[in-house]
Amino acid sequence: MLKIKVPATSANLGAGFDTLGVALNLYNEFIVEESDTVQIETYPKIPEFENPDKNLFVKVLKKTCEYIGNDFHGVKLTQKINVPVSRGLGSSATAIVGAIVAAFTANKKVLTDEEFFNIAYQFEPHPDNLLPALKGGFITACVEDKKTYYSKIPFPEELKFVVVIPDFELSTEKARKVLPEKVSLEDAVFNVQRVSLLISSLVNKDFDLLKVAMNDRLHEPYRKKLIPNFDKVVENALNSGAVGVSLSGAGSCMIALAKENFEDIGKSMVEAFNEVDIKAEYKILEIDK
Ligand code: HSE
Repeated sequence: MLKIKVPATSANLGAGFDTLGVALNLYNEFIVEESDTVQIETYPKIPEFENPDKNLFVKVLKKTCEYIGNDFHGVKLTQKINVPVSRGLGSSATAIVGAIVAAFTANKKVLTDEEFFNIAYQFEPHPDNLLPALKGGFITACVEDKKTYYSKIPFPEELKFVVVIPDFELSTEKARKVLPEKVSLEDAVFNVQRVSLLISSLVNKDFDLLKVAMNDRLHEPYRKKLIPNFDKVVENALNSGAVGVSLSGAGSCMIALAKENFEDIGKSMVEAFNEVDIKAEYKILEIDK
């Protein structure tokens, strides 16, 4: 029996679109046991996830066994789901990472980065979710000529994450369809300036710079149409003491960085969603190192 815990992730952090990702201390757990058939139990119960043809972990496990050169006969999978699904917290990445790690561990093989990406990219093309889910921490990712380069960035211990989870799902596919194919030089420079400032202000603990550093022109201006009361969620969080706010990944969650007042920030973000009749809850999370 193997037990694998994989953290939730939040990609982008505003200006770091398709680049930055952070692992959070909220985990999905996968318990893998040998079996000649595929049996899946999920807690809480998600009927779609219990369908062997639709379960992402099982699909990735099969593909990884094929890659390793082992026949896949079946699996007994118990999936404990704590990461909200289709909310921009990397729930798919937890299943992909969990299945690849499970298959390599069960077959006593060392997983290299190259092998990991060869398999993982067949299911999800975003290293800003995959890498923090696999390695933990705060990571900057870069892909060139089909090779992935990355580096971990120290994350200040003073900061926590207040994540507001609205009660509607948003698929990454839908949230990418609203993005333009081309952006202006001015907008590209806007983001390069801010993502650089974001990294340096986190490393140097210049937290007053984060409000500006997390501003984005590459995805949030387009995606915010899909998030009712987006601007008010941001405004409420900042007014309650957050040092920076952004969409989490492709949404629908939003994430605030803060040194204090975590409960007030969470409640104020929930209130902004409630104003437009959307139920929401918040979680105060820390980085998973
Ligand atoms: N960077 C990706 C996006 C993450 O924002 O679309 C997807 O989860």
